[in-house]
Amino acid sequence: MNILLASSEVYPYSKTGGLCDMLGAMAKTLAQSGAKVSVVTPLYRGLFERFPDIQPLGWRITLPLGTRWVEAELFVREPQAGFRVLFVHQAEFFQRAGLYQDEGRDYADNGARFIFFAKCVAYLARHLQERPDVVHAHDWQAGLAPLFIRDQHLRDGWAKPPATCLTIHNLAYQGLFPATEYALTNLPMDYWHPGGVEFYQHLNCLKAGLHYADGLTTVSPRYAREILTEPYGCGLDGVLRGRHHVLSGILNGVDYSEWRTTRNPHLRHSYSWRSLAGKAAEKADLQRELNLPVRPELPLFGSVSRLVDQKGTDLLLAALEEMLTAPMQAVLLGSGDPGFEAAYRVLARRHPERVAVRIGYDHPLAHRIEAASDFYLMPSRFEPCGLNQMYSLRYGSIPIVRATGGLDDSVVDPNENIEHATGIKFFEESARALAKAIRKALVIYADPELLEHFRVNGMQADFSWEKSAAQYLQFYRELLARPVAAVG
Ligand code: ADP
Ligand code: GLC
Repeated sequence: MNILLASSEVYPYSKTGGLCDMLGAMAKTLAQSGAKVSVVTPLYRGLFERFPDIQPLGWRITLPLGTRWVEAELFVREPQAGFRVLFVHQAEFFQRAGLYQDEGRDYADNGARFIFFAKCVAYLARHLQERPDVVHAHDWQAGLAPLFIRDQHLRDGWAKPPATCLTIHNLAYQGLFPATEYALTNLPMDYWHPGGVEFYQHLNCLKAGLHYADGLTTVSPRYAREILTEPYGCGLDGVLRGRHHVLSGILNGVDYSEWRTTRNPHLRHSYSWRSLAGKAAEKADLQRELNLPVRPELPLFGSVSRLVDQKGTDLLLAALEEMLTAPMQAVLLGSGDPGFEAAYRVLARRHPERVAVRIGYDHPLAHRIEAASDFYLMPSRFEPCGLNQMYSLRYGSIPIVRATGGLDDSVVDPNENIEHATGIKFFEESARALAKAIRKALVIYADPELLEHFRVNGMQADFSWEKSAAQYLQFYRELLARPVAAVG
């Protein structure tokens, strides 16, 4: 099967969150399963320097964007047989300091940038020598691609377009732009209504995909159910209920060749569930590095996160404030909302013996925190999948999660199954409930046998991508088996 994946982030080229990890691992695994995979993504600043083997494809495309014509050049890199990355090089749009924003402000022309990107996806789907059977768009940045494909099928003589699929990684980000930007799509007004791409007089790029992709997926079974309800639907639950028959929840996997506790270039020590000495050494190293007292007897709680409302950062701050009189330490890495960043710093200043904070984006440190910590805090208000809790499980850092979305699907609480318990779940969206879960963690830590039971269960849990990739392939097969919709 020939698959074209479209995403604004792909590991190891560009990253602001889990979307990138998911794409990189998914593409690789689909290719290993025998599919032919191309990923199309923007060529951002710095990539030519970091990957000197990115090659020109010898192909320039010029596409309309409202009243102007915009040219892009295509580049390619083939990390492994059967898997290539196609880069859209459009310097004005993508050679910038950030992916979507600079200094906390979204770029004013994000609409133009990603409408153009989605047009490139449709163009490639139509003109690549090896025609894709499936075009799989991810999130709002590629959300218009299924609509462009459908429109060219209906109005522009594209007889046999590929099947299209859209994955929702986070319904809270929809790509909303003023109605005037609809003109940049160069589509007829046929799609401009509340049953199409219009959302309260705005263009909604994600909604385009939700309505016009042949199939929809999201990144965990529980989130697939949650988004059909008003509290989690971000205003689109009605649209999703209307299409629930084509919506499926497929849990993301983990790239264990990257997130590993042995021979990991980001870690100084190796360890496994059979021998945890290296984990203790990582903990001592990190305590030293971050100026915390080196005290192996204290449980260390870790967190690596975007500091935004979704992640329950406020709950985490308030629960730690309440709990820090107990014998424990916390290491927090994050960046995002300036108010949360300031609150992190204040917490560390008030509890210098207990809390170490790093503000910023630091990939190696993320690995070291996972390895060093005994417990991992993830009190998300909602979480489509969440990857860090799965990384934590493999790293022997017991996750403490709110029972929502992928967190609920990937962690086993002792109340569900004591024999296979891997973590601690809490339900209420409150600091008090999180503090109570932290108290349970202290009890587990004080009982070495129980601690080992959780740890070993977690470290042996298997979230490898092979399972998820097989589910996607099955999903694609079902899409391809469906009768083609009639033109008109
Ligand atoms: P989301 O995509 O919603 O941010 P996920 O749990 O799916 O949540 O993925 C987050 C990814 O981003 C993980 O790989 C995590 O390690 C990484 N990450 C988030 N914040 C930081 C940070 N400040 N420094 C390094 N890595 C980070
Ligand atoms: C989004 C979600 C996160 C998910 C990631 C990858 O960023 O917030 O829960 O793990 O996408 O699918």
